[in-house]
Amino acid sequence: MEAPKIMDYNKKTVSELDVRGKKILLRCDFNIPLDAETGGVTDTGRIVSALPTINYLLDSGAAVIACSHLGRPHGERRPELSLAPVCECLAGCLGKPVRMARDVIGPDAGRLVSELRPGEIMLLENLRFEKGEEADDPQFAAALAGFADIFVSDAFGSVHRAHASVVGVAEFLPAVAGFLLDKELKTIGGVISKPARPFVAILGGAKVSDKIGVIINLIRVADALLIGGGMAYTFTAALGGRVGGSMCESAKLDYAREAMAAAGEKGVKLLLPSDSVAAPEISHDVRAVVAPSGDIPDGMMGLDIGPAAASEFAEVIRGAGAAVWNGPMGVFENPKFAAGTLAVARALADSGAMTVVGGGDSAAAVRKFGLADRFTHISTGGGATLEFLEGKILPGVKCLADA
Ligand code: 3PG
Repeated sequence: MEAPKIMDYNKKTVSELDVRGKKILLRCDFNIPLDAETGGVTDTGRIVSALPTINYLLDSGAAVIACSHLGRPHGERRPELSLAPVCECLAGCLGKPVRMARDVIGPDAGRLVSELRPGEIMLLENLRFEKGEEADDPQFAAALAGFADIFVSDAFGSVHRAHASVVGVAEFLPAVAGFLLDKELKTIGGVISKPARPFVAILGGAKVSDKIGVIINLIRVADALLIGGGMAYTFTAALGGRVGGSMCESAKLDYAREAMAAAGEKGVKLLLPSDSVAAPEISHDVRAVVAPSGDIPDGMMGLDIGPAAASEFAEVIRGAGAAVWNGPMGVFENPKFAAGTLAVARALADSGAMTVVGGGDSAAAVRKFGLADRFTHISTGGGATLEFLEGKILPGVKCLADA
């Protein structure tokens, strides 16, 4: 089996530095959903995941200057993207006060930083209110770094972004990984580079084009590749199937054929859904039918893997030694099209395999089904997890000190 591409992810962690009495710039990924009406935090997952590093730092006598982006304000100060609700939630989770700066590198942040004592924590305002953040502007990075003695990166979800608070600050400060980042890298990196076998990869989601790099890298290492979700129809169409109005990227048909040929050559079992749940539209009262995935009636589209496919996928998953899952099998937000995603989630939960769920929608599905505690690891990353699985160099990891 050809070795998969995977970046060098063995980084020095915060536990290897003496942090007592030091000010720590802690990059977190608190880019989390807020309720459109109340503005409150609706999913605390990323906040809870940051607590081990924060508690360790505070208990070790460090002062913590936490920072994060929220949304994509692109340098504009947008009040609805203030981190204030996150700050309140973080304080609740920690059971300690967290002082909130009204700006990022401005006078309010400067004053709070100078007042910050060992064992205390504060949060800067949304980093992306400043143009310098996404531009990785050295002056902005130097100003951020100027608040602290050490940079700790725990924002796994953001390490694929070469932004000032992720990469730039590492030019100015000793830079190490927090416990969340270290755990993400070692768990996902470990399963890709040395998986227990058979190693099963399950990929779903809407588009093949989003997952090309991941498919190529996983074909190098997996024993079986199960493809569901909207992207399966591009593969089915490439085999000459009739996919009706299903999502199909006609520009990617050749790619799908090449991927299937590469899997065949390497002896990787590549499974497409034999049947689908199809409907003319995505709505709650629509009449859905089960049809062969290669014979979807005109005017209908495949919106979930069908019952036969679900049991074929579950059968492969049951025998797995390790499994990685990224992307739902259907439009699981609608109960009519959730059965395939639920079947895969249950099969993984029951498998006894080492199970890794790559963030985003599949992680949301696992949480929605109440199965989260039955997985070995649910990644906090979305795009970052995908890029890591692809074998790309993550700039926010590369810039940290090696172990
Ligand atoms: C994410 O939610 O995937 C990260 O926080 C990165 O956000 P971005 O895609 O806006 O850079």
